[in-house]
Amino acid sequence: MCGIVAYVGKQDAAPLLLDGLAQLEYRGYDSAGIAVLNAGHAKVLRTGGRVRELRAALPKRFAGSIGIGHTRWATHGPATEANAHPHRSSDGRISVVHNGIIDNAGSLRAELAAAGVTLTSDTDTEVLAHLVARSTAETLEDAVLDAVSRIEGTYGLAVLDERHPDRIVLARSGSPLIIGVGNRETHVASDLSAIVRHTTSVVHLEDGEFATVTASGFTTFTRDRVNTSRTPTEVAEAAGNFELGAHQHYMRKEFLEQPASAQSVLRGRLEDRFGTARLDGLNLDARANRAIRRVKVIGCGSAYYVGQLGAQMIEELARIPADAEPASEFRYRNPIIDSTTLYVAVSQSGETADTLFAVEEIKRKGGQVVGLVNVVGSSIARACDGGVYLHAGPEIAVASTKALTNMALGFALLALNLGRVRDLSIAEGRRLIEGLRAVPEQIEQILRTEDEIASVAKGLSGASSLFFIGRVRGYPVAREGAQKFKEISYCHAEAYQSSELKHGPLALIGESLPTVAVVPQDELVQRNVGALHEIAARNGPLVVVTHPGVDLGELRASRIDVPKNEIELDPILLTVPMQLLAYHAALALGHDIDKPRNLAKSVTVE
Ligand code: F6R
Repeated sequence: MCGIVAYVGKQDAAPLLLDGLAQLEYRGYDSAGIAVLNAGHAKVLRTGGRVRELRAALPKRFAGSIGIGHTRWATHGPATEANAHPHRSSDGRISVVHNGIIDNAGSLRAELAAAGVTLTSDTDTEVLAHLVARSTAETLEDAVLDAVSRIEGTYGLAVLDERHPDRIVLARSGSPLIIGVGNRETHVASDLSAIVRHTTSVVHLEDGEFATVTASGFTTFTRDRVNTSRTPTEVAEAAGNFELGAHQHYMRKEFLEQPASAQSVLRGRLEDRFGTARLDGLNLDARANRAIRRVKVIGCGSAYYVGQLGAQMIEELARIPADAEPASEFRYRNPIIDSTTLYVAVSQSGETADTLFAVEEIKRKGGQVVGLVNVVGSSIARACDGGVYLHAGPEIAVASTKALTNMALGFALLALNLGRVRDLSIAEGRRLIEGLRAVPEQIEQILRTEDEIASVAKGLSGASSLFFIGRVRGYPVAREGAQKFKEISYCHAEAYQSSELKHGPLALIGESLPTVAVVPQDELVQRNVGALHEIAARNGPLVVVTHPGVDLGELRASRIDVPKNEIELDPILLTVPMQLLAYHAALALGHDIDKPRNLAKSVTVE
């Protein structure tokens, strides 16, 4: 969603800001802008369109070595130039970029209007520029503190002041900001991808923290103006990991990276000697682990579907009652938080607002939360009591692939770890370890069948509606399959338990409604094949994602075979062809695969 960049140093700021904004485009946005200070005078350039339009409109005279920039995802008011950030105070002295939502913007706007301020946009952010400008404080830092004290909601913000042309003041509450420390220059962004090409020395601002950045460095402080001495850390992520390289789309680059990324999440975590998974980051000793009576997984979208898959693994292997719930629902239903439940927050970005707020709600009520998170140092990772980093590397395509596979592997590790302090035997533990070790090579095998999957996908791309079905272990796979398909192909795709077909959805089956069925070789295989016959009898076209040993008899169906692993781990592999089906259907339809309409990579507002 919205993105922030800022720069202060010795170089020309505008091109750097524009490059940074281009780097943030993948997060999703609909308008953009920059502000640059030169000789104590701010110049602002905004567009109701893309960063390339901003670049094209950049005047020759836009010099200045300090500036801020923003990509906006419309929340208050449409995507117009007037609503694009930076927003300015009436006298033009203060320029502000802001991520997040100001909940009391309505009353603040009314108050400012009553005081004679002319508001020039529909946004919540504009109030910030006026509040900073109207503060009587001497310093920009104090003026920002004054303004922020009036605000309810979430923010990551960067403020420029013509009166203090050497500095940018930052504030963070619920929306990330990262400072990158360079050689006599300082970069700021809401996402590491816009920083790593300049420096790998970074500081993640904490929630509730403020900062002043200048060309010579930064200082951080609290709301009470107490300095918090923060030391930059080195990030491992190389700039090249964010680049597309020779690939046509990030989504394809990322699903092809899965054999390597799957290795990364397993590395150092499989303990043959005790047949268990070593997860030191959970911060759970054996006694605390054994005291867990329930597991509750929370996440959003695909992360929630993988969470469902993970909850099943935990229940099956550790025999602890486990379930998954969308974080967006969980946090609003006044959930009962129980001290013997282990809450597991799952998120690629680590910034999904609903998941973050659910974690905060659990912690507020004394619950114990661990995270399965990809982005190191992200808000969710920091808010949790412990966790398992997914090590999938940066994921740019909106449709998540490699991070989801690593989430599923992370759940398998967690299930093994929980199981081995309970009734899962050492032999069973070792069986699963062998299975997990085989996963990267088996993903490779699936990827080698891309051409065949692509031709099946082309056949599906003409449909206006599809079913994805599966049951028990196959059902979350079907849900994720439908999700991926609808996200990028824009075809209506709906997941059902195959066991539920007869209770309603069968009425829709006919020759124009294809079904993608997940049919693992497990104890339910005969029942699953039975459901396929019912579909075939009604002329429903079928794609069956299955294992080589499964006998489909005379059934007319396109078949996609996936290598067999241990029964509990099979769902991890069955999900991979779903990514390829969605990708190749969307490719056949000519869609913007990496940036599907209306969607953002990181959903930082509720
Ligand atoms: C689907 C997809 C989304 C995310 C969801 C949660 O391909 O990417 O459904 O899974 O928005 O995002 P994270 O995992 O960043 O919390």
